[in-house]
Amino acid sequence: MEAQRSVSLRLNRRGDDVLNAFLSPSGRMSPDYPMKIIWKKGFIRLFFVVGILWMLLILTVLLFHVWSCQSSITFFSAIYNKDSKVIVMLDTMGLLPKPQHRCAIPVLDDPDAVTIPKSRTPDKIVENLLYISDESVKDNSIPFSGGFVKNNSVPLFGGYQTWTQRDNSFKLNSTMKVHCGFIHNGGAEMEPKDVNYVEKCRFVVASGIFDGYDTPHQPSNISPRSQKLFCFLMVVDEKSFNFIKKNLTVRYDSDGGKWVGIWRLIVLHYPPYDEPRRNGKVPKILTHRLFPQAQYSIWIDGKMELIVDPLLMLERYLWRGKHTFAIARHKHHQSIYEEADAIKRRKRYARPLIDIQIKIYRYEGMEPWSPSKRTISDVPEGAVIIREHTALNNLFSCLWFNEVNLFTPRDQLSFGYALYRLGDSFKLFMFPNCEYNSIFLLHNHTREHSSKVEWVKDLKEFKKNSTGLIETRGGFGLFTYPVNVTSVDLPPVTRTSQAG
Ligand SMILES: *[C@@H]1O[C@H](CO)[C@@H](O)[C@H](O)[C@H]1NC(C)=O
Ligand SMILES: *[C@@H]1O[C@H](CO)[C@@H](O)[C@H](O)[C@H]1NC(C)=O
Ligand SMILES: *[C@@H]1O[C@H](CO)[C@@H](O)[C@H](O)[C@H]1NC(C)=O
Ligand SMILES: *[C@@H]1O[C@H](CO)[C@@H](O)[C@H](O)[C@H]1NC(C)=O
Ligand SMILES: *[C@@H]1O[C@H](CO)[C@@H](O)[C@H](O)[C@H]1NC(C)=O
Ligand SMILES: *[C@@H]1O[C@H](CO)[C@@H](O)[C@H](O)[C@H]1NC(C)=O
Repeated sequence: MEAQRSVSLRLNRRGDDVLNAFLSPSGRMSPDYPMKIIWKKGFIRLFFVVGILWMLLILTVLLFHVWSCQSSITFFSAIYNKDSKVIVMLDTMGLLPKPQHRCAIPVLDDPDAVTIPKSRTPDKIVENLLYISDESVKDNSIPFSGGFVKNNSVPLFGGYQTWTQRDNSFKLNSTMKVHCGFIHNGGAEMEPKDVNYVEKCRFVVASGIFDGYDTPHQPSNISPRSQKLFCFLMVVDEKSFNFIKKNLTVRYDSDGGKWVGIWRLIVLHYPPYDEPRRNGKVPKILTHRLFPQAQYSIWIDGKMELIVDPLLMLERYLWRGKHTFAIARHKHHQSIYEEADAIKRRKRYARPLIDIQIKIYRYEGMEPWSPSKRTISDVPEGAVIIREHTALNNLFSCLWFNEVNLFTPRDQLSFGYALYRLGDSFKLFMFPNCEYNSIFLLHNHTREHSSKVEWVKDLKEFKKNSTGLIETRGGFGLFTYPVNVTSVDLPPVTRTSQAG
């Protein structure tokens, strides 16, 4: 409210200056000015007065709305719609408050005062979720422009999901059996001692490091209660483990369990994919498959240091509002088509492959985000995910992962698509981005990340060298989709910010 008032005051002052310039003419204006110019001055004066009144009116309406909607955040997210001319105009004039980068998270003061719910949220829509775990190995050949990429030496981690199975996996039923990674012998294998250890973990803080890209960061502000309650599980591949061993002190317990500070290291053997980015999505999205006893989990990317007590986070993001799935909204984008545009511009993945994925989504009816959608955004900030592991949430995670397995590893795009396909039954809490930024401190990666595929501009580049660039165990859907989506029109994208 204060901010609003000062904006309008500033506006008045600015307006007065302009008016004064007209009302108190300087010496340049002599009395024998022609009538026409005096008339013109009057007209301009009128124009300014009307303009200022109009702006004041808009500000008043805005203020009234903010005041009447109890939460200004909900209000702004509801109207902060880039299609609205008034909003765009106010924004370009600098009259809308800029969203803050960080804001305080409204957590309770005392972790000891948090009441943990006695029972799980009951599973109503999906009661029994089963996973396909054995499939006869098929021919792992990707037909690609007359050539083939073959790797028949291993079963695929993501399985051989047909397009019909994919379609059916989105149809909710009380008992469902779906693909969800972890096909037998497909890779991502835990050691038996770690399997034993995680069986006792009901409350999990999980993180992951792949390809030696980060080193573990110790979380801070963890209360004694949370230290007892939570397992802190850091999932790493062999390459990262070897890097960590060299770089930090790894402590071994009497069972041979590996620890770095509070983190228990969980080494995954046999990476399921060629691309480290895709491997990293296994613990992040399929947390419930690696840690099947977890009732609650908080995922945090490996480059981050958690600085909020995890029990306070569960209270804030799940229990207080009776939510079961919480994720932050993206700072800049609400539509997956805008996000895809930004990914291409920042060369985060092969541009032609991103195009194929979103053209498939467009072809399958995915609309760009608009205020009439049920979620405040289609694009999440996926580096922090807070989940109760209900059957429906686990299903959502499986379906989200299946998209990552089939198409590109850019999971912000597939997240929005899975939301769209699952429909109203799947509920989630998308919390403000400024709170998200207060959950962690960001650390630098150990090196610049760049894989060759990120720089691919044209599909022809894959043709030139079909070994190496095309992955042999993931992303098949991009090349096997039954419809030629080349000519699908994508919704127009307006670039709203330099940073985005
Ligand atoms: C096939 O996958 C196996 C297991 O990851 C790997 O060792 C092998 O190099 C791959 N072969 C080709 C041709 O990519
Ligand atoms: C649920 O699955 C059963 C058995 O496959 C089927 O008969 C039924 O129609 C399905 N229900 C819905 C709502 O799709
Ligand atoms: C670990 O690696 C980081 C960056 O890669 C470096 O700054 C740090 O000095 C290393 N620590 C040890 C103990 O080698
Ligand atoms: C992280 O990297 C940036 C730029 O590469 C550098 O300016 C900054 O000092 C680094 N921070 C730390 C903590 O090493
Ligand atoms: C094709 O890619 C492989 C693996 O990246 C590389 O070793 C080989 O030199 C490339 N061949 C050509 C002709 O570019
Ligand atoms: C897909 O359609 C485009 C034009 O719409 C065409 O140029 C291209 O050859 C087609 N691709 C295949 C594999 O049929």
